[in-house]
Amino acid sequence: MRNILVAGNWKMNGDSAANAALVESIVAGQPAAPNVEMLVCPPFPYLSAVGAAVAESRVQLGAQNVSQFDRGAYTGEVSAAMLVDLGCRFVIVGHSERRAMYGETSEVVAAKYAAVLEAGLTPILCVGETLEDREAGNTEAVVDEQLDAVLSESGADGIGRGVVAYEPVWAIGTGKTATPEQAQDVHRHLRSRIAAHDAGVAASTQILYGGSVNGDNAEGLFSMPDIDGGLVGGASLKAADFLAIADAASRV
Ligand code: PGA
Repeated sequence: MRNILVAGNWKMNGDSAANAALVESIVAGQPAAPNVEMLVCPPFPYLSAVGAAVAESRVQLGAQNVSQFDRGAYTGEVSAAMLVDLGCRFVIVGHSERRAMYGETSEVVAAKYAAVLEAGLTPILCVGETLEDREAGNTEAVVDEQLDAVLSESGADGIGRGVVAYEPVWAIGTGKTATPEQAQDVHRHLRSRIAAHDAGVAASTQILYGGSVNGDNAEGLFSMPDIDGGLVGGASLKAADFLAIADAASRV
């Protein structure tokens, strides 16, 4: 059976003092259930400090972005090897905010995904449609294009060494969660698309849901057969809210 992963994407929030308090409460309150994994993804400047704060716990450390390049004249960029150096285990790639605001194409995202694998880290590949895409009936076509770019770059084996996160853009930060059934439909579709390449990989790959996950809706989402946890933005910034989601995960 697949473990449930509850991942916090802090985005561009926090400061040293607030992070220390947040992570201390998360570590103290982490559910004991061995099948519930927790992950926090702070902004780059805080990776070291947050990494030190979770070091003795089961809470894992991840980054929100990475360069597709190894090293060199890329001002402002951070390589996967640097993230290894700082103790990261996971890296989010292709978040919709990066695709929409920083022009990351599926090709760039696939290159980042490959760089993360190459460094021995676990990429979390975000896919998801806009409201316009959904209303036009294009949800599957959009997520297929995003997934296929990574499948053709890294293969099914590469997908098997990562995590997929389905995040409908219309549900991110809006308070409008996809219903468990809406999310399950897309998760089932993604898993079957991976299964067309490798059924074993499809069965073992964690597929997270993201978009306004909170303590009230998490249990319904995580109870669906193809939903293996959540990528959580807003609710990951308050320890009580994030822990309520982890508690919901330990009940399913
Ligand atoms: P949200 O963000 O939980 O605030 O909707 C999720 C995400 O962007 O990963």
